Amino acid sequence: MMLIALTGTPGTGKTSVAKVLEGEYRVIYLKEYRESWMYWDGERDSYVIDLEVLRKRVMEEDKDEKVIVEGHYSQEMPVVMVIVLRCHPRELERRLKKRGYREEKIKENVEAEAMSLITSEAIIYHGKDNVFEVDTTWRKERDVAKDVRKIIETRDRSFAPRINYSEEILKWY
Ligand SMILES: Nc1ncnc2c1ncn2[C@@H]1O[C@H](COP(=O)(O)OP(=O)(O)O)[C@@H](O)[C@H]1O
Ligand SMILES: [Mg+2]
Repeated sequence: MMLIALTGTPGTGKTSVAKVLEGEYRVIYLKEYRESWMYWDGERDSYVIDLEVLRKRVMEEDKDEKVIVEGHYSQEMPVVMVIVLRCHPRELERRLKKRGYREEKIKENVEAEAMSLITSEAIIYHGKDNVFEVDTTWRKERDVAKDVRKIIETRDRSFAPRINYSEEILKWY
């Protein structure tokens, strides 16, 4: 049993990349568990998750050798490695606008990406050696998938966390 987290800020391309890899690995989409472990918080305008319930559900589901867990909470699952998809904040803003996200929601996500929030969280939970990053900016989903496959099979440390968009924040103020 080997769970692999495919995570990243919304809009970084998790679902697109997971779809490419579906033929090779079993993929668990955390979103599909929404009803059983999430409830809508109108005040925060987002879903609130019960991580304990989710962890239990994911463990029940897992029967194969290597299973990709896709979703921006997957780093909080009992995984053996975390692959974080990254995207330049300006390109991420463009992708989320196209998706019809509200201004406030876009800002929240673009800031989180610029601050490398998910990578930091993944390192705290799983240690630096188990965390990898792939930049998706200006790249094809198929090429990103190829990198993800390489990480899963070889733990290639040339994908060690190193992406830093924090300079971008300074340009906004
Ligand atoms: N590598 C990529 N290069 C350019 N655009 C991408 C890439 N991956 C995804 N996209 C686009 O970005 C948007 C968000 O992708 P999606 O896979 O839904 O992200 P997520 O699941 O992380 O929220 C989609 O419009 C998708 O077509
Ligand atoms: Mg998605």
